[in-house]
Amino acid sequence: MFVRAAEKPLVAVLQGSAYNPPPVWFLRQAGRYLPEYRKLRRESPDFLSLCNTPELAARITLQPVDRFGVDAAIVFSDILIVPHGMGRTVRFLEGEGPFLTPLRCEADIDALDADGAVERNRSLMETLRLVRRELDDRTALIGFAGGPITIAAYMIDGSGGEFHATKRLMKDDPGLVDRLVARLADAVTGLLLAQIEAGADAVQVFDSWAGLLEESASFDRWCIGPTRRIVGSVREVHPRIPVIGFPRGAGERYAQYARKTGVHALQVDQDVPLGAMRDLQSICPVQGNLDPGILLAGGDMMRRRARSIVMGLEGSSHIFNLGHGIIKDTPPSHVADLVDTVRSCGK
Ligand code: CP3
Repeated sequence: MFVRAAEKPLVAVLQGSAYNPPPVWFLRQAGRYLPEYRKLRRESPDFLSLCNTPELAARITLQPVDRFGVDAAIVFSDILIVPHGMGRTVRFLEGEGPFLTPLRCEADIDALDADGAVERNRSLMETLRLVRRELDDRTALIGFAGGPITIAAYMIDGSGGEFHATKRLMKDDPGLVDRLVARLADAVTGLLLAQIEAGADAVQVFDSWAGLLEESASFDRWCIGPTRRIVGSVREVHPRIPVIGFPRGAGERYAQYARKTGVHALQVDQDVPLGAMRDLQSICPVQGNLDPGILLAGGDMMRRRARSIVMGLEGSSHIFNLGHGIIKDTPPSHVADLVDTVRSCGK
């Protein structure tokens, strides 16, 4: 067993401490905006093979840590390894995003391989073990998975976009969506537990399309309910490992999501105003939420906005992050500047 140092700032904040300046890391901090990523990416035939090669995935995970000294490494992988592991066909087409064979009927759900999410993704756990060995004892390691309804939406529609097929199925056959989401919640739970056992200090659930669930009843049914089960099952086995929930686009519903799911911390998108983040801090630690477009632009406006987020949330548990992933054309120097700006607050 490895030692999990209690003094990792990110873990301490997730457990309720306040740091000034706050710990900082970024959604999609490893990826195409980094020249060193693009170089390794060329060594692999496709994106999924890259995720499935632990030596390469570990090096990519460490690239932003080495370059910027961020407080956390997030393991390099993707939310769509779950359907891939469960036996669905998943392909990433160059520059076009993911494509899956659309899932439409009950037989497709029955055919899903429940154990595959962990068993066919063992390379992810190997990546975590490799990264763990390289990190110093102040830098946290984050594992992750997609939220069940977000994964389900990609599986039903077969690609990202407006998710028309998913919305139609929610209306025409909600019971079928329930069954799929329940299967995915179990798979996600298994994958999060396996990542914790491989060395993750915290795990994040990316429910990127929670915002599709416009009505309160469907948000409860397909976002809050399954997330509550995932959080409960993870807590039962590893009560001290924080689970960060990210129901992107949840707007007014972030508070009830935090209260009802029992997540240890909330990641919020860039549409959540500072005052609302402050209110959320009375429920749990909050992570976010600079607009990635502001990071892309960089300069004085970025520095001012970053300082106002840090100062506005000071005194309660806050982790500095973006509201969504780093945009591909972002100059790495802007990211370095942002880390310096956050770290110079409170000095
Ligand atoms: O944050 C990190 O640095 C860790 C790695 C990570 C990736 N995907 C790598 C990736 C994480 C946490 C994800 C999560 C993910 N994947 C989400 C949730 C967060 C969000 O963005 O809303 C979603 C919806 C996906 C599905 C996915 N994967 C899409 C829609 C795409 C295509 C869009 C794009 O940016 O290219 C991917 C591909 C992907 N995942 C890339 C990376 C670095 C680009 C692949 C490449 O190099 O060609």
